Amino acid sequence: MSVVHFPSADAPAPVTFPALQEKKQRGRPIVALTAYDYATARLVDEAGIDLILVGDSLAQVVLGYDTTLPVTVDEMLHHTRAVRRAVRRALVVADMPWGSYHRSVEDGVGNAVRFVKEAGAQAVKIEGGAARAELVERLTAAEIPVLGHLGLTPQSVHRMGGYRVQGKTLGAIGTLLHDAHILESAGAALLVLEGIPREVAARITAEVGIPTIGIGAGPSCDGQILVFHDLVNLTFAPPAKFVRQYGDAAELFRSALAAYRRDVEQGVFPADAESYHLPKDVAESLETASPRA
Ligand code: KIV
Repeated sequence: MSVVHFPSADAPAPVTFPALQEKKQRGRPIVALTAYDYATARLVDEAGIDLILVGDSLAQVVLGYDTTLPVTVDEMLHHTRAVRRAVRRALVVADMPWGSYHRSVEDGVGNAVRFVKEAGAQAVKIEGGAARAELVERLTAAEIPVLGHLGLTPQSVHRMGGYRVQGKTLGAIGTLLHDAHILESAGAALLVLEGIPREVAARITAEVGIPTIGIGAGPSCDGQILVFHDLVNLTFAPPAKFVRQYGDAAELFRSALAAYRRDVEQGVFPADAESYHLPKDVAESLETASPRA
């Protein structure tokens, strides 16, 4: 027996990988953003963002670590589930944290299966080039779409000696192009390009058939992604050159918190209208009676 699921009339049509591929073909930019919890994922999805990445950047912007390295598979699963519960339209991609695919291909496949089965992710993202080809092939064969991630790969922070723009020499550009082609041949559905000169991202985008999504990689990528907390100023640090802040959530929260504190301290919160009331007769009896259980 086969069961066909039809979306309800008011449900937005879900974004698919073929739809993203078509966007590349038609030159329509793909809009992507990170999200890590139910509330922000709902807002991001309702804003019509195509792809939501539950990025391992949550290690820094949500959990307060210095790098992305400490976050675990279980923590990423927890956040991916929360995002999944919120999203109706966007594609939800889980970022595989450092250590979850570096021991062996088998281990990587096992952890990716957990993201799909236990958290409802529709795809996973892994960092690195040719060294990940076998894993990309295995995941693709297992029906798990894969996003590659090239350039400034934050999980390589110690090897790179910090968060530095990559691909600035002809040799490094050649390696990036080679890696992009290898990942595409291995079956990657999409490539994230981070922290590389715009000319290099433009060249990769022109040469590969799959969509590229840039972060600090200039305007010629097939789409753009930013970290949610960067976009709304919730990172407590000066923004990187490539970040554009579209709002100031820190200021909004600060003024709301200061007003709440002031109102409680001055005894003006809660007001009568914000309080529950007894029925009139019970209130009158309470004036004179001494209630006992
Ligand atoms: O973890 C993350 O947020 C990312 C994006 C920067 C692409 O990998």
